[in-house]
Amino acid sequence: MSFIKETEEYLRDTFKKCGYEIEDVTLESSSRRDLGEFQINSAMSLAKKYGKNPREIAQNIVDSLDDRFTNINIAGPGFINVSINEKYLLNRMNEAINNFDSLIDKNEPKNVLIDYGGANAAKALHVGHMRSANIGEALKRLASSLGDNVVGDVHLGDLGRQSGMVISEIKKRKPNLCYFDANYKGKYPKLEITPEELAIYYPEASKDAKENPERMEEVREITAKVDLCEEPYFSMWKDIVEVSSNEIKKTYDYLNCNFELWEGELSSLKYIDKTIKILEPFMYESEGAKVIDVARDDDKIEIPPLIVIKNDGATIYATRDLATIYNRMNSKFKPNEIWYVVDARQGLYFEQVFRASYKSNLVSPDVILKHYSFGTMNGKDGKPFKTRDGGVLQLNDLLSMIRDELSKKMDKYESGKEKEEILDKLTVATVKYADLLPYRTTDYIFDIEKFCSFEGKTGPYILYTMVRIKSILDKANINNEKISMIYSDTEKNIYLKLLELSRIMKQAYSEKTLSYVCEYLFELCSLFNKFYGETNIINENDYTKKCNYIALLKLIYNSCSKLLYILAIKIPNKM
Ligand code: ARG
Repeated sequence: MSFIKETEEYLRDTFKKCGYEIEDVTLESSSRRDLGEFQINSAMSLAKKYGKNPREIAQNIVDSLDDRFTNINIAGPGFINVSINEKYLLNRMNEAINNFDSLIDKNEPKNVLIDYGGANAAKALHVGHMRSANIGEALKRLASSLGDNVVGDVHLGDLGRQSGMVISEIKKRKPNLCYFDANYKGKYPKLEITPEELAIYYPEASKDAKENPERMEEVREITAKVDLCEEPYFSMWKDIVEVSSNEIKKTYDYLNCNFELWEGELSSLKYIDKTIKILEPFMYESEGAKVIDVARDDDKIEIPPLIVIKNDGATIYATRDLATIYNRMNSKFKPNEIWYVVDARQGLYFEQVFRASYKSNLVSPDVILKHYSFGTMNGKDGKPFKTRDGGVLQLNDLLSMIRDELSKKMDKYESGKEKEEILDKLTVATVKYADLLPYRTTDYIFDIEKFCSFEGKTGPYILYTMVRIKSILDKANINNEKISMIYSDTEKNIYLKLLELSRIMKQAYSEKTLSYVCEYLFELCSLFNKFYGETNIINENDYTKKCNYIALLKLIYNSCSKLLYILAIKIPNKM
C-alpha cells in the first residue's frame, strides 16, 4: 500500500479514536514546506458537526499522532501541518527501489476490454488512429499495473466502402482475372496482391470515384456485395484484409502497441444472427430499414433511432459493433467494462449503440460500456493537421518526419544499426510523449521542433535523462546500495515526489488520461537533473554517501522505467 493511502487510513482511525466520525481524511502535499510537508484540513469540516472550535479538534488529533510524523503544528483556524519522520521515509524508499508496487495502490480487480487502434483495412493509418493507439495502449498498461485484467482489441475496420474501392481498382487494372469473368465456373484462387499495390489502390480509386459518378456506382455495387458476403468478392476482400492487416501490424509494432485480440468487423459477422435475435423484439421497420429507438425523455439533444439493418438487408457499422458486443459478453473473458478509445466524432454513435445494447439486454446493466474520446492533433492554424497539399497526414509520414528531424540532432553518431535503433526508440518516445502529454480530451498543436527538443516536456528530454542515469549507474558499479541519509533538500524533494506517485496513478486512472503521468515524469527527471547539477556523484570519496546517491538514482531509474513502460516508450541504452 502506498504511503499516502496508509497514512490516510491511519489518520481516519486516529480521528475515530478521538471521537470524530469521518469517512475520508486527505493528506495534502503542502506548498509551504517550512510549515510542514503535508497538511490535514479535516478539523474544519468536523467543527460544525461537533459544535466545537476546529483548533480544539486539531489539538485532540495532534496529541494522538504517533512518531511517523515530526514537526507537527497547528496553523490558522485549525490546519494540521506535519512532516514525515525521516527514518520512516527512508524505510519506504528502500523498499521501493526494487518494488515499484509499494509506491502505488492496487484496484479492486475487474475485467476490462479496451477497444482501441481501430485501423481501417486497405486504407492508410492516419494521425487520428495514432492517438487511439497511443492512448489505448497506455490505458491498458496503466489499468493492468493497477491490478485490472485487461485485454486490448484492435477492432479492425475491415468492412465498408474501402472494399468496393480496392476491388474496383483491381478490376480496372487486371480485368482479365477470373473473379471478373461471369462465365468462370472453376474454384476461385486466393487473390495475389502486394502491400505496395494496396498502398496505391485505395487512394487511386477514391480519387477517381469522387470525380466519376459511374465509378462510384460500381464501388457501391461491389461494396454491397461484399457486405452481403457474396462470392467471389467476399473472399477476395478477405485476402486483401489479410495482406493489409500484416502491414498495419508493422506500424502498431513500431509504436509498441500489442493487441491481444485482432478482431474486427469481419469477424463479428459470425454473431450477427444471434445478435439480431436478441434485438428483434425492440426493432421496428422504418423506410425499409430495421431500427431501434434509443431516445429518452430527459435527452438534452435529439438522439435519433439506431439503424441496425439497412433497407437492402445488409449489415452496417452499428450491426457489427452490436455483434462484437454480443461476442465479447459471451466470450470466456467476461468484461466488467468495455472502453472504446475512439475519436470524439463518434460520440453520438456510441451513445446510440450503448443504449441499444442495454435496452435489449445484450449487455446487463452492471456492465459498463464507455466511450473515451480524445482531442485532435491540430496544425498551427488550430484546425486538424493537414499535409501541405491539404490531405490527411498519414501516420507513417508523420513518423518519418519526426525521425528525420531527430536524425539531424544525432549526427555525432556514425550511421549503422545502433544509430537506427536509437533513432527508432527516440522517434516513438517523441510522438508518444507529445501525444500523451495533453489532457486526453484537449486538442494539441503539432510542433515538430518543440516535440523533438532535448529540453522541456518532451520524449527526448525524458529519455536523455534516463540514459544519463543509467550511465552513472553502470560506471559506479555499486550493488549494496542503501538509503540511510538525506544530504540535501533536492534529495528530500525527490523522495517526497515519489510519495506522490500513488495519487498521480489514481488520478490518471480515474480520468483516463496519461497527462498526469507525463507531467510527473518531467518533474521527476527535472529534480534528478537538479540533483545531478549539484552533486558530484561518481567522484564522491565518502563511500556511504556514494552508496546513498546510487540508491537514489536506482530508485528514480526503476520508477521512471515503470512509468515509461506504461506509456509504451522503450529506453535506449545510450544516446
Ligand atoms: N475503424 C473505425 C474508424 O476508423 C474505428 C473503430 C472503433 N471501434 C469500434 N468498435 N467501432 O473510425
